[in-house]
Amino acid sequence: DASPPSPPETLPLPPGSSGLPLIGETLEYLRSSRAFAERRQRQYGAVFRSHVLGSPAAFLLGPEAVQWIFAGEGKYLKNRWSPGVRRLLGAHCLAMLEGNEHLERRRLLAPHFSYASMRGFVPIIESLSRRHFERWTARPGDFTLWPAMRELAFEIALALIFGQDTVDLPFLMHHFKAWTAGLFSPFPIDLPWTTFGRALASKKAMIGYLEQVVAERQARTEQPPDLLGSLLQRREGEEPLSRAAIVDELQLLLFAGHDTTVTAMSNLMLMLAQHPDVLQRGREAVAGLEGPLTLEGMRATPYLVQLLHEGMRTIPPIGGAFRVTTRDVAFNGYRIPKGWTVPVSIKMAHAGANWPTPDRFDPERFGGENPEQKKPGTFIPFGGGPRICLGQHFAMVEMSVMLILLLKHHAWELVPGQDLEYTQVPFPKPRSGIQLEFRRID
Ligand code: HEM
Repeated sequence: DASPPSPPETLPLPPGSSGLPLIGETLEYLRSSRAFAERRQRQYGAVFRSHVLGSPAAFLLGPEAVQWIFAGEGKYLKNRWSPGVRRLLGAHCLAMLEGNEHLERRRLLAPHFSYASMRGFVPIIESLSRRHFERWTARPGDFTLWPAMRELAFEIALALIFGQDTVDLPFLMHHFKAWTAGLFSPFPIDLPWTTFGRALASKKAMIGYLEQVVAERQARTEQPPDLLGSLLQRREGEEPLSRAAIVDELQLLLFAGHDTTVTAMSNLMLMLAQHPDVLQRGREAVAGLEGPLTLEGMRATPYLVQLLHEGMRTIPPIGGAFRVTTRDVAFNGYRIPKGWTVPVSIKMAHAGANWPTPDRFDPERFGGENPEQKKPGTFIPFGGGPRICLGQHFAMVEMSVMLILLLKHHAWELVPGQDLEYTQVPFPKPRSGIQLEFRRID
C-alpha cells in the first residue's frame, strides 16, 4: 500500500527545491519536461517537489505512483487546468466536470464510443480515408502530411458528432487552428494581436456557428442517432443540457477527437518511413485483409495494435496531464499538501526504467508473450482511472482503418533535407510537418 498509516501532517515534504520567486522552476520544465524530471529523479529519487506553472508541485514517478494518481481521482485529486485552458475549453464540457456530473456526462456519451457503435463507423472511416489518400497521391513533390492528416481526421470527427448533417468544414477548421494554437499559450493575455486573443476570437466565431447548428437541430421533432442527438436527448426526470453546455461539449469533442489521432498517425508514418523492415512486416500482416474492412478483420491482425501502441509509446500524443490535491495526502512517506499540483507524466511512464532502450521504435515489445507490456502504469497513452480517454476505442479503430489502407495501397518516402526536429507544444510534431513523396502502389 502506497499510503503509510501515519497522518500526512506528521510527514516531511518531498525533497526538492522551489527555484526562483514566482516562476519557480517553470522555465526549465517548459524547455523539456522529460529532461527536467530525469535530472531530479537522479538527484532526489522518484518522489520530489518543485514549483512549476504558478504552483508548488509534487512529481511522483514510477508505475505505482501512476496508479496511485489515477486511483485518487475524486478522492484526493482532481483535474487541474490552467485558467487560459479553462477559458478556451469552456466550463461546461466533460473535461471540466467533476464527481457525479462528470460520471453522468460520460454515461450520456458512452454509447457512441462502445465497440458495437464502432461497427457502424468503420465503413464511414474507410470511405473518407480512401478519398483523402487518393487526393494525397495527386500532389507529387508537394505534399506535407500534417495538415493533410488534420483535414482527414477532422472530417472523421465531424461524422462521429454530426452524423449525416452537413457542417461548414473549412470554416470550423480555420477557427480550430487558431483556437488550438492559443490553448497551451503560456501567456494567456487577451489582446487582438496575441495568440491567446486570436484563439478567443476564434472560439467566439465557432460558438456562434455551433449555436446555429444546435438551434436548427432542436427545432426538429426527432433526433438522428448521432452524438449531437444524444446531447439533445431529454432524459426522464432530468433537466435537458443547456445550449451553452452542448456547444462546449461539441468543441471539446472536436478538439480531443482529432489533433490527438493526427499526431499519433503522422508520427507513426514518419517512424515507418525510417524503419523499412517494420513497414515491410506491417505490409505482410495486412496482405490478407480485403475491403470492405471489418472489426473482425482488424481483430485478427494483432500487429496493427502493436504498431499503433509502439508508435504512441515512443511519442505519446499527449505527454501528460495535471491533477491538484484536494486535501493533505501521504504518498510513500511524504506529505503532499492540499492545493499542490501533481503532474501525470505519460512521457516518463513510457521511458526511463520502465522500458529497456526506450527511444527505440520496436513494435515487437507489444508482441504476444513479451512481459514488458503487462506491467500496469507503464503504458498509458490514453491516461487512466475515471478520466481515461473517452475516445480510445474510436481512436484505435480509426487509426487501424487508416493504417490498413496505407500499408496495403501506398508508399511514402521522406523528402530529403527537411527539418525533422520536434516541437512539443501543443503536440509533438516535426518542424517540417513531414514532407513526403506519397504514391499508390497497386
Ligand atoms: C481524455 C489521449 C483520441 C476524447 C484523454 C486523456 C488522454 C487522451 C491522455 C486523459 C487526459 C487526463 O487524464 O486528464 C488520447 C489519444 C488519442 C485520443 C492519445 C488518439 C490517439 C480521442 C478521440 C476522442 C477523445 C478520438 C473523441 C472522439 C477524449 C475526451 C477526454 C479524453 C472527451 C476527456 C475525458 C474525461 O475528462 O472524462 N484523451 N485521446 N480522445 N479524450 Fe482522448
